[in-house]
Amino acid sequence: MPSYAVTGASGRLGRLAVAELLARGVPASDVVAVVHSRARAADLADRGVRVREADYSSPGTLVAALAGVERLLLVSSSEAGQRVAHHVNAWCTENYTDQIGRYLEAGEIVGAAGTGRISAAARRDYAAAAAAALLEDEAGNRAYELGGRAFGLPGLARTVTGATGAPVTYRDLPAGEYASRLQRAGLDEATARFVAAPDASIARGDLQTSSQDLARLRGHPRHAPRRGRGRSAQRRQPRPDQSGGG
Ligand SMILES: NC(=O)c1ccc[n+]([C@@H]2O[C@H](COP(=O)([O-])OP(=O)(O)OC[C@H]3O[C@@H](n4cnc5c(N)ncnc54)[C@H](OP(=O)(O)O)[C@@H]3O)[C@@H](O)[C@H]2O)c1
Repeated sequence: MPSYAVTGASGRLGRLAVAELLARGVPASDVVAVVHSRARAADLADRGVRVREADYSSPGTLVAALAGVERLLLVSSSEAGQRVAHHVNAWCTENYTDQIGRYLEAGEIVGAAGTGRISAAARRDYAAAAAAALLEDEAGNRAYELGGRAFGLPGLARTVTGATGAPVTYRDLPAGEYASRLQRAGLDEATARFVAAPDASIARGDLQTSSQDLARLRGHPRHAPRRGRGRSAQRRQPRPDQSGGG
């Protein structure tokens, strides 16, 4: 009987979380990978993981896919316009590290986050923490707020400069101007607003947390799972603006 399920398991975070569960000793046959499309999860099936299809937009499919599951990691989808219905997630450091080439080319980071700070962490760390939370042996439900050490975009620019030796500065724009700039760079209006929205959240402090949950879970020793506890772990993460989680 499967015990653990991970939704969005064909995506980047979900795939890492499944790998973490297996690395921590959960038998592959005890893991259900819930995917939008089975075609994208052949490698998981090859590893012995149970692959089941479900669509967040059709709750009935989730009921069937989660039959027999005791503990669930619900990974949100990335579909624009569906972020609330499909849930939102924490802020990944990769949102910035994936852009370092562009920062260096432009000599600047442009945004509208002001001096707001961001408790981002690497996607791999979120996956490891999520797997640890699923395996944790605590009584009752528990909410985890996951975030890394906070930084701001001016500090990020200094870090990139320090690491590469190439001067990169942060240019802060009013939110509307930032969205217009994104449009001039080729995004349509809705996408520009979607991309700019997280910066407004950062400016408000919504993406900052002093929670040590991530550090604690990351330090969690790897151990074999305990079986048959029949309850679900809950996980809460710092909440990006609901219209644009990343
Ligand atoms: N805040 C951040 O910094 C940040 C950064 C990155 C990601 N995220 C969010 O974190 C979540 C996971 O990230 P990720 O990098 O793993 O994203 P991802 O690689 O895009 O994975 C999303 C997963 O959701 C599945 N999915 C999409 N629509 C679905 C639907 N209607 N029903 C069921 N499953 C559906 C996808 O399946 P298919 O591929 O088969 O469609 C995929 O497995 C996403 O919400 C993403 O937006 C946040």
